[in-house]
Amino acid sequence: MGMKSFTQKLALTTALVSSIALGAISAQAEPTAEVLHYWTSGSEAKAVKALKEDFEANGGKWVDAPVAGGGGDAQAAVLRSRVLSGNPPAAVQIKGLSIQEWAEADALGDLTKLGEEEGWDNVLPPLLQDIVKHDGKYVAVPVNIHRVDWIWANPESLAKVGGEPPRTWEEFNVLADKLQAAGITPLAHGGQPWQDGTVFETVVLGMGGAEFFNKAFVEKDPATLKSDTMKKVFDQMRKMRGYVDADFSGRDWNLATSMVMRGEAAMQIMGDWAKGEFLAAGKVPGKDFLCVPTPSKGGYILNSDSFAMFNVTSDDDKAGQQLLARLILGEKFQETFNLYKGSIPARMGVSTEKFDECAVKSMVDLQSASESGALVGSMAHEIAAAGAVRGAILDVVTEHFNSDMTSDVAVERLAEAVELAE
Ligand code: BGC
Repeated sequence: MGMKSFTQKLALTTALVSSIALGAISAQAEPTAEVLHYWTSGSEAKAVKALKEDFEANGGKWVDAPVAGGGGDAQAAVLRSRVLSGNPPAAVQIKGLSIQEWAEADALGDLTKLGEEEGWDNVLPPLLQDIVKHDGKYVAVPVNIHRVDWIWANPESLAKVGGEPPRTWEEFNVLADKLQAAGITPLAHGGQPWQDGTVFETVVLGMGGAEFFNKAFVEKDPATLKSDTMKKVFDQMRKMRGYVDADFSGRDWNLATSMVMRGEAAMQIMGDWAKGEFLAAGKVPGKDFLCVPTPSKGGYILNSDSFAMFNVTSDDDKAGQQLLARLILGEKFQETFNLYKGSIPARMGVSTEKFDECAVKSMVDLQSASESGALVGSMAHEIAAAGAVRGAILDVVTEHFNSDMTSDVAVERLAEAVELAE
């Protein structure tokens, strides 16, 4: 089904639901929320449990609806069918442009009144307000800011070859070659489209810079997608393919993180949800593992998780949505959740005291990248692109990674696929 017909069908279904959804919530309502999410790894489960406990402590009834599968692509299919059958979950973990697409289809409730009461405009950075507002109305609440462009490294593995964390992609390759020669897998990786896309976008930012990144993924400019710089990006991806182990296909991201923990691989390129896994295993940043940004000129790839509240009919569900949204932006919750999750708070002004050096680096680098214009939204994680366009990019990146496609062919395919998806 094309995106347009899907959206049209959806608009009909959701218009029906929302026409019944209007009206005040009765005072006897028992706040209930079925929460659809894909936080099933060890650290993710701890983080989501903190939200569940907070909700329950405030009188809410939590109905857990986890869908395993990193990056959320499996969950997205479940969400679509739930909405199309007129039975959406009350709260759903979605992101970026996906929030806009669901809002466009009239599937989301309006949280603006609550937002005004709680003063969200004063505590959320404008950047995140843009992500969770549609037509000036709050339709979702952000839980965090995740940075995508990180290398997670095992310091002992690097020391075995006398290597330092790389500052350029050339240095990355030199280090990876040395590791490989010493019998150490340079790159822990899981061959799933969103993970391939995660690595790919860090290379795009590193080799092309922020302007190039946005021209490719936001403007979808054919000349940029086919450029010599993009060819170099695919050349680097070909090198990356040579740095992963034989069993990479289909591996979950958190298993790749464990490989770095155990010294079975030296590095992983992954967002800072990987740090959550290191911390959950009792590892200490700077000692047991290193966090270094992937090579770029002061860049920062932003990802942010949010909960969108879908149109529901019962007063219990509506009360549940209000309670959940209010708690999510609470200062205490933002601290507890993000300490487990590896991310930094979405809310401004949360004390940084308990956050580790990687989180503090993320905060500092975010600020400077935002000032220098080197801050971009993640394509792989739906901030800069979503739906069919993101899918088209990931398809080409994955096909290239798993075949002997040349960079010349890859860029042509990329430009074509993006054009068709629009
Ligand atoms: C989400 C993270 C999640 C990761 C792995 C990312 O897209 O933003 O919250 O931990 O995928 O599933």
